[in-house]
Amino acid sequence: MARSIWFTCLSTRFASRATWFTISLLEIRNLVGLLSVMEKTRVAIVGMGTVGTGVARLLLDHGDRLARHAGRILWLEKATVRDLKKDRNINLPAGILTDDLSSILNDREIEVVAHLVGGLEPARTIMLQLLEAGKDVVTANKALLAEHGEELFDRARALGRTIAFEASVGGGIPIIANISQCFSANQILSLRGILNGTSNYIISQMDEQGADYAVALKLAQELGYAEADPTMDVDGSDAAQKLAILAHLAFGVRVRWRDIYRCGLEAFQLADLKYASELGYRIKLIATAQLRSDGLELHVSPTLIRKGRPLAEVRGAYNAVTVVGDAVGDMFFHGQGAGQMPTASAVVADMIDTAAGRTDITFRRLELWSDRESKIELLPYAQTTGRYYMRFFVADEPGVLSQITGILGRHQISIASIIQHEPTIDQQPRKVPLVIMTHEATEKAAAAANDEIRKLPSVSNECVKLRVTEGGK
Ligand code: NAP
Ligand code: HSE
Repeated sequence: MARSIWFTCLSTRFASRATWFTISLLEIRNLVGLLSVMEKTRVAIVGMGTVGTGVARLLLDHGDRLARHAGRILWLEKATVRDLKKDRNINLPAGILTDDLSSILNDREIEVVAHLVGGLEPARTIMLQLLEAGKDVVTANKALLAEHGEELFDRARALGRTIAFEASVGGGIPIIANISQCFSANQILSLRGILNGTSNYIISQMDEQGADYAVALKLAQELGYAEADPTMDVDGSDAAQKLAILAHLAFGVRVRWRDIYRCGLEAFQLADLKYASELGYRIKLIATAQLRSDGLELHVSPTLIRKGRPLAEVRGAYNAVTVVGDAVGDMFFHGQGAGQMPTASAVVADMIDTAAGRTDITFRRLELWSDRESKIELLPYAQTTGRYYMRFFVADEPGVLSQITGILGRHQISIASIIQHEPTIDQQPRKVPLVIMTHEATEKAAAAANDEIRKLPSVSNECVKLRVTEGGK
């Protein structure tokens, strides 16, 4: 290969310092010595979109740094796309970019492939083809793992290959490695997190700038946070897929992500962010896994969290996860959960681990999506408990409040506070927002009461019911 890693590595080092004179002769000698005895692992990328382009940047611009960690040079051999004419905003050395997947499949020297195609098909077929062709795979595709993890991991095991997937949850946050390795002395008791960058970005824009939902979503798409079809970002599905992966790692449960109760940003309005703020809370899309004596509670829902708590202060496309282990106590992970370079950081770390042989050890030890059964049962959502924020638009008339509080009382729901806002002068007909915070209740009771209240003639159809958490843990 004519292209020289020396130039890539050395020029990057020069550019990263104010002047190359600051690099000591000793450093240059070490670098030259290091690289001259190093072997190469040939790697490829399938999918040069937001993440794939970031991965190529790291491989090409920081070869020296990666080589030091891998103990070998990661040599980018090929990158495949669908459309060769698209502008990639990156200068790739000649001969790398192709629209021919077989040039990777048939090249026996390519050992590790970053699989960065989204969605289910052709992503699933491509991953199977890569495994069959003898490649170790690194992926960021959580939808694919949540849907077809069992088939893909079985196939990888049967073929003696590995799948690494750090970037599939939490973008740049090393949450997969932490849960699967660093908590191994613990029984994990709970996980609670913000797992979708797009929806957190939208909520932050609405909350902080009063931005319109559609405008905020468009910005998130332009910034490369959203999926090709952003529906799953905003309806809680993407977070549920990530929660299914984390729950599998943390509790051994093989839960189908579709069985996880989820609701998304459609469940509240801009006004609710304001009312929540008046009460001292922020609204965040929270994924929860809580181990209880009778089973495991899993759900994704917009939740009020008291201001000042770590999860409440997570802004923009950042993600965060609080993990509670029985020995270690609680731990908080925070970082960019979406976007080109944070995600590429996790993908390339996996490529390094795979090239260095570390993935092989953890992959075999973890036995993910294997026949090993967990004894933990998934609890029906109706059995979960919590505090609730309820917001109704009600007729500003005598007796309405007592009808509503009567319904809540009949469902054994105790009220913690009620706020009724004054109607605006020109409001016709006179419907006013009524915000109720409850004490602890079951989801079953809260849902039934909410439905009953919604049917009252004095209450408009638009009712909001959100979970509330004080601690954010
Ligand atoms: P993207 O920008 O839509 O890029 C997808 C790439 O896949 C495109 O380059 C596309 O080629 C290529 N592709 C599609 N079908 C192909 C095929 N049959 N053969 C070869 N290439 C094909 O997606 P992304 O945002 O980079 O996301 C990639 C994956 O990472 C997804 O699973 C996503 O969920 C996950 N992820 C993304 C982020 C993020 O912040 N974006 C963060 C974490 C995880 P063309 O460009 O020619 O169309
Ligand atoms: N679309 C995803 C998000 C990318 O916004 O979080 C990271 O998985």
